[in-house]
Amino acid sequence: MKAVVIRTFGEPDGLEVVDVPEPVPGPGQVRIATEAIGVGGADAVIRRGTLAAYGFREGHLPGSEVAGRVTAVGEGVDAGWSGRRVWAFTGLSGGYAEHAVASVDDVLALPDGLGGADAVTLGGSGVVAHFALERARFTPGDAVLVRGAAGSIGVTAVQLAARGGAGAVAVTTSSAERGARLRELGATHVLDRSGAVSGGDEALEGFDVVIDVVAGPQLPDFLDMLRPNGRCVAVGVVGGQPPEDFGMRLIDAFRSSLSFATFSSDTVPGPDRQAVRAAQFAAAARGELRTVVHEVLPLDRAAAAHRAMDEGRVFGRIVLTP
Ligand SMILES: NC(=O)c1ccc[n+]([C@@H]2O[C@H](COP(=O)([O-])OP(=O)(O)OC[C@H]3O[C@@H](n4cnc5c(N)ncnc54)[C@H](OP(=O)(O)O)[C@@H]3O)[C@@H](O)[C@H]2O)c1
Repeated sequence: MKAVVIRTFGEPDGLEVVDVPEPVPGPGQVRIATEAIGVGGADAVIRRGTLAAYGFREGHLPGSEVAGRVTAVGEGVDAGWSGRRVWAFTGLSGGYAEHAVASVDDVLALPDGLGGADAVTLGGSGVVAHFALERARFTPGDAVLVRGAAGSIGVTAVQLAARGGAGAVAVTTSSAERGARLRELGATHVLDRSGAVSGGDEALEGFDVVIDVVAGPQLPDFLDMLRPNGRCVAVGVVGGQPPEDFGMRLIDAFRSSLSFATFSSDTVPGPDRQAVRAAQFAAAARGELRTVVHEVLPLDRAAAAHRAMDEGRVFGRIVLTP
């Protein structure tokens, strides 16, 4: 089968199309003929070689999220899965291929009307948005800021906050055009990356909830934008690490009873993740939750997909198809 591996760590050109044997599903696994493959930030981090210390080697086959049809089941798996269209989490490898294997516990049947590209755009990131808002104790009426809203986590967080009755849904983004697209998803206030209002919106008197995909040197500035009892939940680090003393800004605001938390969906029990994912897939199939597919490219253009990510051109998620 055709697959894409990281031949050389570093630039996107280090990705190479290769022929490898089709994977055989082991006990508890299914094999999926892929129709859509999600391209995520973690794939780019692995491609750069940043995670070499964690055992990732050149020759690695990246990709963690696919959709397609089950073509074989391993020992102990209900044969009823055969032939079903599914979304699957493949771990931190194996997705960039015509066939992928996944544990049956990480597989979810797709509802009618939900395309594979939509599923791999929503499947992994939607649960992060959902549980991050839950971790932030979001309630109707809250003023919410989604920082780094133009990515796959952010576009869902904006919609969930708006649908959940937020008093305001502010976003940070790098252009007016992106701001306009985020307004279509429910944003009420568009801020630039520094948190300054742009586009003529009224300034807000702080936020009850900040969902932060960015972190980076400016994180403390966003802690300062929390209202008394405000909650900031960090779900990503696309802007790099925060300054070492960022905790001091929280302590300095002691009398405002602020909360800062990190959140990873890895800490949510698998069945809870699957229940939320199934509800989100159903909502997307009904047209109540929008998936944002930036572009669908053939698998052998994986390097172009990574270049688009590296250059910050992706709005939502980029998808490969074999
Ligand atoms: N918590 C979890 O369970 C979990 C699960 C999966 C992934 N993640 C993490 O989530 C992140 C990826 O999420 P994603 O795919 O939604 O994000 P993304 O698309 O990589 O980035 C989101 C947006 O952030 C803005 N941005 C990028 N660099 C920035 C910078 N230096 N300063 C300010 N804004 C910047 C960009 O929008 P503009 O150009 O419009 O500003 C970008 O579109 C990664 O850190 C990944 O490790 C977390």
